[in-house]
Amino acid sequence: MNIQEIIAKKRDEKELTKEEINFFINEYTHGNIADYQASALIMAIYLNGMSKEETLNLTTAMANSGDILDLSELGVVVDKHSTGGVGDKVTLILMPVIASLGVPVAKMSGRGLGYTGGTIDKLESIPGYMVNISEEEFIQNVKKIGISLIGQTMNLAPADKKIYALRDATSTTESIPLIASSIMSKKIASGANKIVLDVTYGRGAFMKTKEKAKKLADEMVEIGKLAGRETVTILTPMEEPLGRNIGNTLEVIEAVEALKGNIQDDVKEVILDLGSNMLKLAGKGNDLEENKRKMLENIQNRKALEKFKELVQNQGGDISYIEDTNKFEKAKYILPVILDKKIEEITRQRETNKETTKQEVIVKQLKAEEIGKLSVFLGGGRIGKEDKIDPAVGIVLNKKIGDKINKGDIVAYIHANDKDKAEEAVRRLKEIYVLA
Ligand code: URA
Repeated sequence: MNIQEIIAKKRDEKELTKEEINFFINEYTHGNIADYQASALIMAIYLNGMSKEETLNLTTAMANSGDILDLSELGVVVDKHSTGGVGDKVTLILMPVIASLGVPVAKMSGRGLGYTGGTIDKLESIPGYMVNISEEEFIQNVKKIGISLIGQTMNLAPADKKIYALRDATSTTESIPLIASSIMSKKIASGANKIVLDVTYGRGAFMKTKEKAKKLADEMVEIGKLAGRETVTILTPMEEPLGRNIGNTLEVIEAVEALKGNIQDDVKEVILDLGSNMLKLAGKGNDLEENKRKMLENIQNRKALEKFKELVQNQGGDISYIEDTNKFEKAKYILPVILDKKIEEITRQRETNKETTKQEVIVKQLKAEEIGKLSVFLGGGRIGKEDKIDPAVGIVLNKKIGDKINKGDIVAYIHANDKDKAEEAVRRLKEIYVLA
């Protein structure tokens, strides 16, 4: 068996055997297959897909590429994972809420992928926060304070870690078998007994339609069942970014605000949907509405915020930044975005059409994918596998779909550390806003 034959087989749309998939994963994890060969195979999978059996074999091989964590001493651990989004700071808010309600949270998160952000990059923007800790420390932390959020550090699903970075750099992210195996291998390896998955769809998600998202969700549920992990999926629309802030530090700041009760409606809805199901799976109550009420109560009484601070402190982070988010280093250039020319254009068109109605101008479209790409352009995400992220840059949206706009309104701010990029980003964001 050799890698060239395996690449050729997938290139020619043939099904790979379990042995061939195991060979690829083992040899690539141990550095015996070059990145360029792995990239070719991943691209062939991206283009030609995989059968359900191949996806299951890929997931199992990736989960077994490292250790499988045993969390049985922690009781019922419910994990959560998202298929990715723009402005998606859900984990940062949801997990402290869940932990504050007595459900152990032991979560391994990822870095940004493509134009979507990653929780680990966001957590690393808190000075001192350590995402790389040992397995013992991870379990100890959960035992001590009920929560630990870490990166893909220990020897858990190392094959996914390598393939994930490769996919990010080779535009091969939007694939059902690759996403399903990536997520489920990590969840199986990280030891949770129950899993809630946020499967996003729309312009800011890897699955562009609800039908595709449903297919991905069904595959993951099936893999979960075969692996003995009860899995529940929630389908979430991601047409425009979630919440107001996009960018690593900016999203931490929005998450802290949310934990203080200043939570955007769209973020709140996702948090409550996911969390109420997590509480149910953890045996904390079957009534989803009652579960939502308990979650809101722990936001209002600040117990969830306190849990987040405890988490940050326990993992070496400086909580003074959470207590006063103004301490975070700001980008050098913060430029407002104003859409007066577009509003004037609409007014002119109305005059030409002799329209007499004085209807309001609203935001009609705000493509999340384009905004995610803009954040990467500013340095908030990676283009190359080894690229460093600039935590301070990003976008703050004052106006979102359906909001009214008047002349002079600042619809958004660009946060950048490079003047040319800042000006270019303002131009691009003006194009991204579609008015009606
Ligand atoms: N999240 C993951 O962990 N993997 C993917 O492939 C996509 C989102």
